[in-house]
Amino acid sequence: MEIIDGNAIAATIVEELRAEVAQISGRPPAAAFIRVGDDPASVAYVGKKRAVAKSIGIESHLFVLPIDVTRKDLFACIDTVNRNSMIDGFLVQAPLPPHLNEAEAFNRVAPEKDIDGFGSVNLGRLLQEDSTGFVACTPAGVVDLLHRSGVRTEGRHVVILGRSIIVGKTLSMLLLRKHAMGNATVTVCHSRTPELGHHTRQADILISAVGRPAFITADWVKPGAVVIDVGVNRVQDSTRKSGYRLIGDVDFKAVSPLASKITPVPGGGGPMTVAFVMRNTLKAYRQQAEQSGL
Ligand code: GUN
Repeated sequence: MEIIDGNAIAATIVEELRAEVAQISGRPPAAAFIRVGDDPASVAYVGKKRAVAKSIGIESHLFVLPIDVTRKDLFACIDTVNRNSMIDGFLVQAPLPPHLNEAEAFNRVAPEKDIDGFGSVNLGRLLQEDSTGFVACTPAGVVDLLHRSGVRTEGRHVVILGRSIIVGKTLSMLLLRKHAMGNATVTVCHSRTPELGHHTRQADILISAVGRPAFITADWVKPGAVVIDVGVNRVQDSTRKSGYRLIGDVDFKAVSPLASKITPVPGGGGPMTVAFVMRNTLKAYRQQAEQSGL
């Protein structure tokens, strides 16, 4: 069994991006993050993204809106960033409070600045296999993690747990592409799938993004399978200063002896997501520089 080190692989990408940014003369690439409220996980994610941006030489801006912000004021903020030619790409951190419609907010982001790839234009580009579009960072990170770990997807059976746009649905579209890191046979399971274990046991590559701590047990995994755990679950832990610790969807201790390769949580997909936010920012910067004839 080999542990896939997401921290090390993400650090390689960050290093590649740093070298690319260092070649840029003129204004550095710039990203922005819109956060609504102070959800601790969102505060941590946005903080991490900004710290990594800084380490690469990407500028970043943070807009914090109150938890009870109106749809109108959120849209006004998005529109302001859309029009700001000094910002190349941005995202609205999810989850949004229930009174706001996430899809509507994501669609308000100008497609050329949609570094999350959550807007309908970029989702459509993904279905069309148009590589000029932006692909959501967590799914893009998972595919790259597989690639850089020497896992081939062509002709393999990938079973994905979870059907969100943020992970499962987008990942299924990536792995179905007529592409060296696609060409998989993909099964997508979700909360209404009966006999989940029946499906997961068929997987050559099992990817979980359901957000249920230690949900996947050893009897659900085929020996020799590659297991990618995208779940990030906070569980209470009174021995930690923070009062909690992060665990994945996979019962790592039970499953890891069976797997050929497996990602840990933390240190699996998470750092890859952050690296891909940076990669998409640089892509947005280059595309817009090209558009404006620079
Ligand atoms: N919340 C959890 N993952 C993500 C992500 O990739 N992008 C945004 N905007 N919010 C998230």
